[in-house]
Amino acid sequence: MFIKRKKTWHIPESQATPEETFLNRRRFLKDAGMYGITAGAVLSGVNLFGLFEGRKKTGPVEIPKTPTSYLYPASRNPRFILDRPLTDENAAARYNNFYEFSTDKNVWMYSDSLILRPWQIEVTGLVERPRVYDIDTLVKEMPLEERLYRFRCVEAWAMAVPWTGFPMVELVKKVRPLSSAKYVLMRTFLNKGWSTEQRLKFWLPWPYQEGLTMEEATNELTFLATGIYGHELPKQHGAPLRLVVPWKYGFKSIKSIVRIEFVAGQPKTFWNTVGPDEYAFESNVNPLVPHPRWSQATEKMIDTKEVRPTLPYNGYGEYVAGMYVK
Ligand code: MTE
Repeated sequence: MFIKRKKTWHIPESQATPEETFLNRRRFLKDAGMYGITAGAVLSGVNLFGLFEGRKKTGPVEIPKTPTSYLYPASRNPRFILDRPLTDENAAARYNNFYEFSTDKNVWMYSDSLILRPWQIEVTGLVERPRVYDIDTLVKEMPLEERLYRFRCVEAWAMAVPWTGFPMVELVKKVRPLSSAKYVLMRTFLNKGWSTEQRLKFWLPWPYQEGLTMEEATNELTFLATGIYGHELPKQHGAPLRLVVPWKYGFKSIKSIVRIEFVAGQPKTFWNTVGPDEYAFESNVNPLVPHPRWSQATEKMIDTKEVRPTLPYNGYGEYVAGMYVK
């Protein structure tokens, strides 16, 4: 029989998630002088084209059909549940950050050009057994499960979603890292045919990349997601494979991964390169450390618009705080 142990990160059912334009980093790019008038005009043209393309869509939740679709829904891991409603699926699917496709939240209208098959993930670097995985082979080899996690963006919006995927540690075990491996670098595709932003914003440090320490990468919370809401990830959520690290700000949860590399030194990351004073490598959710341009004390749920206090480590301290004791 399953006995639900109450975690410190459990919050009441009444405190759920929302959808609204809030603080976004398009403004940051402007402030940083990276968004010139000319480039802005060109990009609006691109977005208008994308909008035209987007009108053909049936809605924000377009579920890919792939050779491994039959594996969904996976069974829910009862250790990772939330005692509050999940964010409405449509709200989560309409409010995304995926800068390869749009600097606005309506990424779902612009991400059709992302082609999901064939898709390979190279797992390499300081490991005994480097390997290139076809995504469907990887998914079949891994123990798929569903976990309900809270998700907190650095822009102070939040949601609660059911991810399907597998713990990253399972993949780490397969490639056998050497003792010299201290960090894991993850990288998104670089494809100017798919991504208008990569093509036009040539001054940004594409491809998007992110990193974790080895200890973080092998923490039991660290999850590689292939699905959401009981089916495969729609494109705007980072199909076919994305990271989910729920105690860190959302930008660490890199989407559409093509390469995972075990390295000796702390890797450069996309946002830390763009704004080192605003987006630290570690970036654990912390209500006491304001972003230089806004407070992190509260967060706004993207569907209900409820404002609630931000929790240290997004409420996952019991799993992760020990890693940061100096
Ligand atoms: N991954 C890539 N490749 N490109 C991005 O722009 N945005 C990040 C993260 N992963 C991003 C990315 C940010 S800022 C956030 S908040 C989350 O994705 C958003 O995830 P969601 O759209 O599925 O909610």
